Amino acid sequence: MVSKEKYVVKKICCIGAGYVGGPSMAVMAEKCLDINITVVDISEERIKRWNDKNIDNLPVYEPELAEIILQRRNKNLFFTTNIKDSIKEADMIFISVNTPTKLEGFGAGFASDLTWVESSVREIAKYANGHTIIIEKSTVPVKTAKIIKTLLNSNKSEDSNCERTFSVLSSPEFLAEGSAIKDLRFPDRILIGGDDLDGIESLKILYKKWIPEEKILVTNLWSSELSKLVANAFLAQRISSINSISALCEVTGAKVNEISNSIGTDNRIGSKFLKPGPAFGGSCFQKDLLNLVYLCRYYGLEEVANYWENIITLNNWQRKRISKLIVEKLFNTVSLKKIVILGFSYKPNTNDTRESAAIYICQDLISNGAKLLIHDPQVSPIQIEEDLGIRQSNNIHDERKGSWMFIEDIKNAANQSDAIVILTEWEFYRQLDWRSITNIMRKPSWIFDSRSVLKPEDKKNTQVNYWEIGQGYDI
Ligand code: UDX
Ligand code: ADP
Repeated sequence: MVSKEKYVVKKICCIGAGYVGGPSMAVMAEKCLDINITVVDISEERIKRWNDKNIDNLPVYEPELAEIILQRRNKNLFFTTNIKDSIKEADMIFISVNTPTKLEGFGAGFASDLTWVESSVREIAKYANGHTIIIEKSTVPVKTAKIIKTLLNSNKSEDSNCERTFSVLSSPEFLAEGSAIKDLRFPDRILIGGDDLDGIESLKILYKKWIPEEKILVTNLWSSELSKLVANAFLAQRISSINSISALCEVTGAKVNEISNSIGTDNRIGSKFLKPGPAFGGSCFQKDLLNLVYLCRYYGLEEVANYWENIITLNNWQRKRISKLIVEKLFNTVSLKKIVILGFSYKPNTNDTRESAAIYICQDLISNGAKLLIHDPQVSPIQIEEDLGIRQSNNIHDERKGSWMFIEDIKNAANQSDAIVILTEWEFYRQLDWRSITNIMRKPSWIFDSRSVLKPEDKKNTQVNYWEIGQGYDI
């Protein structure tokens, strides 16, 4: 007999202990003290780090995350690789696994790779017990819920005596990295898509513990799945729009920050997501745009596909534009020139580097022969090595063309450097003593500020050339 205590959820399992699964379950545990939450992952290394006594070793860096982990870990929040038991015991399962862009096969370069969603659903089919509510948290292509239902219904439980039923819902996560905890505690909205009213009610009851009911929107499954792609596409579109205008400002003498301010005061436009930069990064925007493009082409909507694809074209162009202008300003050669890179993560307050503009710009500069000294407050040298696909040199005086080294002391690195390139707007960089840093650079030297980090007073009475995104002329 399938036991089905209507609405009551006592045990939650989250499959995937990554940037979404980890923080979202931490906040769920903080807000639902009466519920046991187990986060599972196939990566032993990741789970080990979530359980590490040294809280600085958590695999995800997010402001305020460590404090919650310290409070809730091993009380009502557990991290384990024991997927079987966690699924077996759960009343509700969140799927928070990676869904990257497919690298090969049909749809390569566009479609999302559902390998990890499929493998987690197969595990659920094998081990689930009684009635289980399954929630898609990862961003997935429209109609994934249909695939999940088919997989669940066509795979038998490992226990032939076990009766089970499933309810499949979509509840995409809208958190942004770097502000994940704040976004999870005070979301703009929670979206629940599905047709099983009891399942929806159970999830609503959880969210209502800290989120006002009017912020919980219920839609059908497909609207919920598509909303996530569309939200990310619209946000990415704003960034490509302002980045395109930054280039126009630079040649006309207009100032992009003044334009953002002036158009942002129009209520219909709004002021957010109008900051130009070296191109958007992160695991979501490009992946979701590509997926949207794929979906439109699949349904024969070529013009719609081309429209959204252009957002990515512009983003790629912006990165290349910045690499090229750095080389041009340094007399068309960066060979053996010492260039300090400030910031490697795709945005501040995260150690995530996925699709970071820094990867592409650094690779361009290295392939042009530059010697890069890379700094980031949270990204590890091992991660940078993996992203660049180039081993770190072990000597700052390495005379080979095209090399890089991780640095901790920015002032020391700036000594006799030809340029400093700011790629991530960490607050720490705003606090640097720019006057003394610029003094010790090799002249003529350049600061390339792709994130508008420097204040006007930082630039006063210094002997360096400045390029600031969207600001037109050299000062
Ligand atoms: C994004 C969405 O914001 C979030 O809702 C979704 O759940 C996941 O994808 P995230 O990628 O973590 O979140 O960060 P976001 O703050 O959106 O920034 C993405 C990229 O855009 C970063 O590289 C950032 O530097 C860039 N960006 C953002 C700009 O260049 N200018 C802006 O004005 C805003
Ligand atoms: P996101 O940013 O969406 O959270 P991440 O890559 O940071 O993506 O995290 C996804 C996590 O899901 C990874 O740690 C990965 O090991 C885990 N994962 C993938 N497939 C499975 C699976 N079948 N069972 C358990 N964990 C999985």
